[in-house]
This record gives sequence, structure tokens and C-alpha cells, in this order.
Amino acid sequence: MSNRLNLLDPEVRANPYPVYAELRRNAPVTQVDPGGIWVVARQADVLTAMKNPQLFSSEGIRRTYRPSWKSDYPLADSMLVMDPPRHTRLRALVNRAFGASMVSRLEPRIREVAHQVVASLPVGRSVNFVDAFSIWVPIAVFGELVGLPRSLHPIIKSWSDVYGEFTSIRPEDTQRQQEIHRAVAETRSHFNEVLEARRREPRDDLVSDLLRAQVDGESLSDTDLMGFLFLLLIGALETAAHLLSSCALMFQEQPELMARLRAQPTLIPRFIDEMLRHSGPAHGLFRMNTDEVELGGVRIPQGSRILLLIASANRDEAAIPDPDRFDMERPGPQNLPFGHGIHFCLGAQLARMEVRVALEELLARFARLTPGEGSIEWNASLVMRGLAQLPLVAHLP
Ligand code: HEM
Repeated sequence: MSNRLNLLDPEVRANPYPVYAELRRNAPVTQVDPGGIWVVARQADVLTAMKNPQLFSSEGIRRTYRPSWKSDYPLADSMLVMDPPRHTRLRALVNRAFGASMVSRLEPRIREVAHQVVASLPVGRSVNFVDAFSIWVPIAVFGELVGLPRSLHPIIKSWSDVYGEFTSIRPEDTQRQQEIHRAVAETRSHFNEVLEARRREPRDDLVSDLLRAQVDGESLSDTDLMGFLFLLLIGALETAAHLLSSCALMFQEQPELMARLRAQPTLIPRFIDEMLRHSGPAHGLFRMNTDEVELGGVRIPQGSRILLLIASANRDEAAIPDPDRFDMERPGPQNLPFGHGIHFCLGAQLARMEVRVALEELLARFARLTPGEGSIEWNASLVMRGLAQLPLVAHLP
């Protein structure tokens, strides 16, 4: 047992912000548990690392997605774990298919789904908002993006439940590994079906755009395509669902804020931006340094696993006045919650749209959210912080 701070300690997960503040003050670059990873807590240092992808490499963490028991997890082939020049080429190819027109094309469909999800929430009775509300709009967004039918939504949810645990599965845990093997085979086969169908008959959608995309005469290979679709599955569901759950918790904790947004729905985008800064889902981004480096006055040996704490950077008093206060009047938008530099979130505009639409529908129907039966539970991840359980009771006006 080491005396080091353990970031996965349930008490830390329940409220990591005082711990991040202490790190910023006294140990802005230091080693913590699990595993003696290096954490970087101050905004200036986090930005320095994100601006230098050759030294703070994403490719270096690819082996996290290539454990000995799973050598063919497609996320390991995605641009999330690539550095330039491979990342640059892939990003250019998918960028063209991921434009602003795609976001507006999806909005009416997302509103329809959000309306149905909100309409099916029980009135005056406790329900876990994570399962009953937050996950379904992101699933619909993903289904629409990739062209999977609505009948598959419950299956997509089961994939997202399994993949969320990927990096915490131990080599001896063969049962959970089997679940991953099954889910990957099933996901792959559905993705292959869509790819085949769009090859035969292209449509006005993302997958057809990806199949058409060319840069300097080169298109995406089958491995690139599968890696990108897996990246969308992992990147699009948990993030947006966690943000929606945090928004619902904020409404329960601050009923006057909920009433204000109901009265002035045009404030919802500002609310979302401040939620992203104050309580955003992305907490840490992993990198590996390709050389020995000095950051924040501390030497980090070559080949270390480094966690850039963007949730701490978003509350750094050196950059943001009174950072713990939730304040919708701050100048925005804040983009750091979506990363910075070459890996900046490709879905930032889409995420803002889907969360806005889901909240507009929720606020149009319900006037108050009060605590439900059972306790609130947080997940246990270094990368993504979100609610695993959020019992709430929704009340009509
Ligand atoms: C609130 C919701 C979201 C948050 C907070 C978020 C956050 C992030 C962050 C911090 C990164 C940078 C990762 C890194 O530097 O290693 C990222 C990358 C990415 N995100 Fe998001 N994301 C969200 C929603 C989405 C959605 C809805 C999609 C797609 C539909 C998406 C697709 C991606 C992709 C493809 C990348 C990788 C970009 C690259 O490697 O070049 N994200 N996201």
C-alpha cells in the first residue's frame, strides 16, 4: 500500500473538486494511485501538454485498448489514440462528413425522440434518471448518425454498459472478457451491415459521407471505418448521458434555477456551457510522454502515463475567478471541457445541440425534480465522471 492519493477512492469520486484544488495549490504535477500515474492539475500545464501532441502522445496509450486478452478491440485503431501524421490524415477524412449541416439535419429527429423519452418518464414516482432519461437521447443521436434502426436502441445501451468498463477489466476476469468479446462481435456485425448497405446504396447520411470521403486520393480503409464507428459509440454515449444526469441533479439541488430556465428557455445554452465548465463529464485525458519532460517545474521520466485533469483546469483560480461558483453570466463559451488542440472533440456542436433539445423537452413538461428513493451513486473512472444512479421524482406544474 502506498501513501499516495488514490483518485479512485469512492470519497474522492463523490466530490473530487477539493482534491483537485489541493493539487493545484501544493502538488500541481505529481504521482497518484492507481498505478502511480502522473496527474497534471493546473490549466496552464494541461494546455501546454495538449498543445504538444508529439511529446505528450495519445498513440502512447493505445496499448490500454490492446490488453493481452483482446488484441482486436477496434477503439485501438481509432484516431483518439493516434498522433500526427496518421491522426492528421484520418481527422481530415472524417471532418468533412462531420460538419454543421449534419447537426441541423439531426435536430428534428432528436427532438422527436427527446419528446417521447420525457413523455414516458413517470410522474410523482421515483425513477433512476440515468436509465430512464439521460442515456436515451445520446443513443438516439448515435443510432441516427450511424443509421441503426430504433429497434436496436436497447441493444446499443447494452453495448455502452459493457464498453464503459473495458479499461478496468483484469486479465483473470474471464467472465467480463467474454461479455466484451460477444459485444464487439455483435457491434461489428451491425456496423458491417450498415457499411455494406451504404456501399450498395449511398444515402444523405454520415456513413455514406465517410465512404465517399477522400483526401489526396486516399479514402478510409475498413479498419479506419470500424475504428471510427467504435470511437463514436464510446465518445458519444457516456459523455452526453453523464452531462444530462448532472443537469438533472442540478435542477433537483437548485429548484429556482430550474424555474428560471423554464421561464427563459433561451438561457439553456448558457446553462449547458457553465455545466460543462463546472461539472463536465470529461475529467482526465491520458497521454504518454515520448521523452523526459519538465512540466510545472517537475521532471517526468520518459514513457510515463500522464492524466491531464481537465476538470481541474476548468476550475483553476489562476484562469477563472471564483471557479467553484456556478455562474451563468460568465463570458463563454468555454471550450476546454471538450479538449484542446488536434484531438478537440469532433462532436462538440452535436453534444451541445442534443443536450439543449433534451433539456428543452424536460423543462417544458416538468416543473420540479425532487430526491427519489435510494442514494445517488457516482461511477469509478479516471477519465469520465458521471452518475451511475440518480433517483429522482418528476413533478408536473
Ligand atoms: C458532453 C459531451 C462530450 C464531451 C464533454 C466530450 C469531450 C471530449 C474530449 C475532452 C475529447 C478529447 C479527447 C482527447 O484529447 O484525448 C473528445 C474527443 C472526441 N469526441 Fe467528444 N465529447 C462529447 C460528446 C461527443 C459526441 C456526441 C461525439 C460524436 C457524436 C464525440 C466525438 C468525439 C470524437 C470523434 C473525438 C476524438 C477526436 C480526435 O481524436 O481527434 N464527442 N471529446
